[in-house]
Amino acid sequence: MAKVVIVYESRYGNTKRVAETIMKGIRDAGVVEAFLSELKEIDFNSILGYDAVLIGSPNHMGWPTRGIKSFIDRLGELRPEGKKFAVFDTYMGNDLEKAVEKMEKRISEKIPGTKQLVHGLSIRVLGMRGPLAEGELQKCVDFGNKIVVQLKSGC
Ligand SMILES: Cc1cc2nc3c(=O)[nH]c(=O)nc-3n(C[C@H](O)[C@H](O)[C@H](O)COP(=O)(O)O)c2cc1C
Repeated sequence: MAKVVIVYESRYGNTKRVAETIMKGIRDAGVVEAFLSELKEIDFNSILGYDAVLIGSPNHMGWPTRGIKSFIDRLGELRPEGKKFAVFDTYMGNDLEKAVEKMEKRISEKIPGTKQLVHGLSIRVLGMRGPLAEGELQKCVDFGNKIVVQLKSGC
C-alpha cells in the first residue's frame, strides 16, 4: 500500500485543519496509508520511507513560512529520487502571490527528479486567525481523493 506523509506548519490552526481534512480524504479512499506531522515533530530521516510527501503552509507575505522553505531545501539534500509531491496553503487575501506556487517552484529547483502529483491547493481563511471560508473543507477532501487517484494510477 502506498504511504503518504503530510507535513505542515500552522500558527493559528487553520493549515492544520486543512492537513487533517486532506488526510481524511486520503484515508476514506481506503487504499493509501496517510500520516500527519507538524513540521517541528517530523522525524526527518523517515521521509525516505514514504512514496509521497504533501507539504502545507500558511501564506506569509506571499510566501510559505521560513520553516517550510528550509524543509524543502533539506529534502533536496536527501536526494529523494522519484518521490512524489503536492503542496497546499491557506491564505487570507485575494492577491496573486500564492505560497503554493512558490513551494512548487522551490521543489522543482531544489529537489530534481520529483513528480508533482496534482496542482497545489489554496484554501481561503476569513481573517488572520481564521476560520476557513465556507465550502473550503470539501475542497480538502476532494484534494485527498485526487491524490489517491493519482497514486493508484501509478503517476
Ligand atoms: C505574518 C503573516 C503574514 C501574512 N501575509 C499574508 C499575505 O501576504 N497574503 C495572505 O493572503 N494572507 C496572509 N496572511 C494570513 C495568513 O495566510 C493566515 O493567517 C493563515 O492562513 C492562517 O493559517 P494558520 O492558522 O495555519 O497559521 C499572513 C499572516 C501572517 C501571520
